[in-house]
Amino acid sequence: MITFDVITIFPKLFEPFIGESLLAKGQKKKLLKIGVHDLRKWAKDKHRSVDDKPFGGGLGMVVKVDPVYRAVQKLKKKGKKSKVILFTPRGKKFDQAMAYDLSRQNQLIFICGRYEGVDERIAKHVVDMEISIGDYVLMGGEVPAMAVIEAVSRLVPGVIGKSQFLKERLQKGRKKGFLEYPQYTRPEIFEPKKNIKWKIPKVLMSGNHKEIEEWREKHRKIIL
Ligand SMILES: C[S@@+](CC[C@H](N)C(=O)[O-])C[C@H]1O[C@@H](n2cnc3c(N)ncnc32)[C@H](O)[C@@H]1O
Repeated sequence: MITFDVITIFPKLFEPFIGESLLAKGQKKKLLKIGVHDLRKWAKDKHRSVDDKPFGGGLGMVVKVDPVYRAVQKLKKKGKKSKVILFTPRGKKFDQAMAYDLSRQNQLIFICGRYEGVDERIAKHVVDMEISIGDYVLMGGEVPAMAVIEAVSRLVPGVIGKSQFLKERLQKGRKKGFLEYPQYTRPEIFEPKKNIKWKIPKVLMSGNHKEIEEWREKHRKIIL
């Protein structure tokens, strides 16, 4: 069982995401636990404010360190293998090997930034690592959190129901890069317009497993 605890100012964004499909099933099967927490719960003033103006001036607001600190202190389960992660475009680029490493933790606490970012003391003192999902700037850390939840959850045995298959691929993937080959399904010939036919590679219809495997090996792509 792996627990995800997401700290966000927009918890409702996660409701449909975690309530559907394999993430919902994984939670029902007690393979995953996904808790979504409103950062405002840990605000102390009467307006429940979690952001303030930047010291030194400048545009926009910055997420405050104190509510985030209190949230992490409250959520962190003692004695469990855990990582506290801040989403930031300045972080280490997320990839399949990182997803694999994270899937071996018992608890992942995600801090979703908003506004102009978060007080740097969060990165310095509160978190174990900073993750970026790519070299572009989003409005918040919620979409990155969802991406990491999906990538990590599908590596938890039983969540996608093909754990042995996945394990073998991962063992290869750890050393050489994560590999994938093109997939096709019915119809065998698709005609989008008159006289245009999109066919599948013949070998896939041959029934010859050795040749199919060779074809797949030849067409694998390294995506790490
Ligand atoms: C508008 S962005 C802040 C950008 C800020 N100027 C900076 O460089 O961190 C608001 C929040 O979105 C999240 N975010 C934006 N792009 C991201 C990315 N590529 N990877 C991970 N998180 C991202 C972060 O949590 C960030 O604090």
